[in-house]
Amino acid sequence: MEPPVIALEDVTVTYRSGFLGGTGFDALRGVSLSVGAGETVGLVGESGSGKTTLGRVCLGLLRPTTGSMHFAGQPFGNLRQRRGQLSVVLQHPEWALNPRLRCGRSVEEPLVLTGVSAAARRARVDEILEQVGLDPSFAARLPGQLSGGQRQRIAIARALVTHPRFIVFDEAVSALDVSVQAQVLNLIRDLQERHGFGALFISHDIAATRYVSHRIAVMLNGEIVEDGPAGRFYGAPEHPYSRALLAAV
Ligand SMILES: Nc1ncnc2c1ncn2[C@@H]1O[C@H](COP(=O)(O)OP(=O)(O)OP(=O)(O)O)[C@@H](O)[C@H]1O
Ligand SMILES: [Mg+2]
Repeated sequence: MEPPVIALEDVTVTYRSGFLGGTGFDALRGVSLSVGAGETVGLVGESGSGKTTLGRVCLGLLRPTTGSMHFAGQPFGNLRQRRGQLSVVLQHPEWALNPRLRCGRSVEEPLVLTGVSAAARRARVDEILEQVGLDPSFAARLPGQLSGGQRQRIAIARALVTHPRFIVFDEAVSALDVSVQAQVLNLIRDLQERHGFGALFISHDIAATRYVSHRIAVMLNGEIVEDGPAGRFYGAPEHPYSRALLAAV
């Protein structure tokens, strides 16, 4: 069987603050989580529970204080080794897009680092724009000349352009209008079927999460308190905190 794209085992992250390291705060405590190819794991839980921290660990942006991490069955290694294999889509596309750069350049940029020829890069940009539902003419526009939903499509195109095997969506639809949210959620589902990447879909919106997730993991105070098929979570959640989350919708 194919190993998971990302597998964390017993991971702890301690944030140190103050002089000489201070006492430290455990943002993740003994977290184990795996995401398979073509699988979306929804990560839900209250603000401050550690979701973004976990996403950053999966992307190699934050080293676990203790515990281990594997990528496609291999030790995670360093970011240089993983170039083009991991991507992130954030809440505000502005965070990923340079306002002075034409959208086509922003989408193309990650490819430059992977050594693809200029002609192949341009063809790939056209292809990925089409896949996110934008006309190739959008390549010539600046981010400020797009709607919020179109900008998020550009950010998704940029995240996908290198054919990553794993993508973190951190509140990726939270800033969008409800109708635009539905379109972007559909897009994420379609793109995953086409590309087969594994995904961690972080959200405080458990209705949106349901729409894209095969599995749900619930975080509470830095720990995963429930992890199982989405159907079970939404039908008969096991943990009292999961029941409270669902009751609040
Ligand atoms: N760089 C940091 N230094 C110290 N503490 C941090 C740092 N980043 C996050 N924290 C703390 O770690 C905890 C988890 O933060 P995190 O951003 O992972 O939560 P979250 O679940 O993503 O919350 P939200 O839903 O609000 O985005 C919080 O208590 C936060 O204050
Ligand atoms: Mg967060």
